[in-house]
Amino acid sequence: MNTYDLTGKTAVVTGASRGIGQGIAEGLLNAGANVITLQRGPITADLAALASARQLTVEDIAVDLSNEQSITDAIARALSTAQVDILVNSAGTQIRHDSTDFPLEDYDSVMNVNARAVFQLCKGFAPPMLERGSGKIINLASLLSFQGGLRVPAYAASKGAVAQLTKAMCNEWAPRGINVNAVAPGYFATDMNAALIADADRSEQISARIPAGRWGKAEDISGAVVFLASSAADYINGVVLPVDGGWLAR
Ligand SMILES: NC(=O)c1ccc[n+]([C@@H]2O[C@H](COP(=O)([O-])OP(=O)(O)OC[C@H]3O[C@@H](n4cnc5c(N)ncnc54)[C@H](O)[C@@H]3O)[C@@H](O)[C@H]2O)c1
Repeated sequence: MNTYDLTGKTAVVTGASRGIGQGIAEGLLNAGANVITLQRGPITADLAALASARQLTVEDIAVDLSNEQSITDAIARALSTAQVDILVNSAGTQIRHDSTDFPLEDYDSVMNVNARAVFQLCKGFAPPMLERGSGKIINLASLLSFQGGLRVPAYAASKGAVAQLTKAMCNEWAPRGINVNAVAPGYFATDMNAALIADADRSEQISARIPAGRWGKAEDISGAVVFLASSAADYINGVVLPVDGGWLAR
């Protein structure tokens, strides 16, 4: 039996229009799952083409994750489309300022998308999983679930919250059949990090500290997510798994 096979499962992935979320959606399709995506704007033609080449479906639902009603509506629509077996909360946002200059509105906006929306999505998709006694929830944490970062206090606070929410929900839902875990990407070359990549000194300092010697690519994260979504991980609960080329070991 291939315990990593997700044939017959349906996965919801937030933030799948680009970057890490798109890589995760591709990995789940390659493992045999149908995918429902929730994000701002449309998914790429590549993702739709992959689903069709694999004779699977990808359903694209637009949502504003800073808006509670929009999230409520998206959850209802996804649950009316299919039985959702896997939830991957990948959407996230980043705003950089020195802490002294950090507008409170920006703080709220990062916390709303990165932490509050994650909680709302988990609590929205969990009840049918709890009724069936099975489900997988995988949240996107960060190195900044462990470290403070530079000029990103709201992001660090939000990713600390994601790690703690993951453990809190694990403790309630593991006895009832849902595995709640998180993956913590290291430095990935996505649009979210465009400012860091454009800063040649900072980009070089970061590369030099990564034992694997390179930034991550979106497809580097999907193996860990497929694993945590599969029956191979049935006895893994409440972990925050770094996928960071060794950054935290340094
Ligand atoms: N890139 C990295 O190095 C890195 C490192 C650690 C953790 N992460 C986490 O991984 C996840 C994905 O990061 P990424 O680099 O692919 O980001 P990205 O900026 O490339 O993509 C973010 C996705 O989230 C969606 N999104 C953002 N705000 C939204 C909103 N208000 N409503 C609806 N959708 C919204 C966007 O549409 C997009 O699909 C995030 O949670 C991020 O914090 C990224």
